[in-house]
Amino acid sequence: MTATERVIPPRRWDPVIKLTHWGIVAAILVNGLVTEEGSGPHVWVGYALAATLALRLIWGVIGPAEARFTAFPPSPARALAHIREIAAGKRVEHASHNPLGALMVYAIWSVLGVIVVTGVLMASAPAKPESGSHAAQPASATQRLERDSAREEDGREEGREAGEEHEEGPLAEIHETAVNLLYGLIVLHIAGVVFETRRSGRRIVIAMLPGGR
Ligand code: HEM
Ligand code: HEM
Repeated sequence: MTATERVIPPRRWDPVIKLTHWGIVAAILVNGLVTEEGSGPHVWVGYALAATLALRLIWGVIGPAEARFTAFPPSPARALAHIREIAAGKRVEHASHNPLGALMVYAIWSVLGVIVVTGVLMASAPAKPESGSHAAQPASATQRLERDSAREEDGREEGREAGEEHEEGPLAEIHETAVNLLYGLIVLHIAGVVFETRRSGRRIVIAMLPGGR
């Protein structure tokens, strides 16, 4: 038995890892499926997502051994070696994410970073003043969207001029593209989790659940 093939006890994720994982999953689901794009709730859920991600990243420096970035460095060379091990039917245990999973984790975090930065910039940017009388004051994207939905509620939406529709700026384009990229990564991540569960026979999803190991 080589050093890399030695038996390592089942992975244990600490509560911060579990809480941040499912917190981020919940925020993405809520913003992707429930909140109205750019609305107040969308932005607040977005800030909660940003805070949760920040907590996880700080944990990557100060947390327990298996949570630290040093336990799962982003290394394409190690990921390739891992693919070769899979192809050869070799079972190698890893104390943290396996090298392929690690690349996926950094990809997801990077894309989330782009979504958060573009979202926060849009939410804090003053909107272009409209020509209408009650739009003389600059408003944040959130205020603008809240005002738009208030108009919809009181039936004035249909009276909007065609030119009043807000344009999609480059930030919105980047935000949306990153969101679509994130959805692609999530599909691959879940496929990876299913594959790894079947290959290793380890209950890695249970290990990510409260009380599971
Ligand atoms: C991962 C979670 C998120 C998802 C799935 C998501 C999804 C979207 C989508 C699909 C749009 C429409 C983009 C477009 O107009 O083309 C949008 C817009 C927007 N999002 Fe997010 N978003 C997320 C996170 C955030 C965060 C973290 C913030 C800020 C804290 C944010 C703030 C905004 C704002 C202000 C807009 C309005 C853009 C506009 O004025 O057109 N979003 N979001
Ligand atoms: C919005 C969807 C999801 C996103 C963005 C996401 C993202 C992530 C991230 C960033 C990690 C690394 C955790 C860390 O080190 O802090 C991770 C790990 C993990 N996720 Fe997800 N996840 C999602 C959905 C799911 C679902 C639905 C499942 C279960 C079916 C799942 C199961 C796991 C497992 C088991 C791990 C640990 C993998 C390992 O043992 O190395 N994830 N996920």
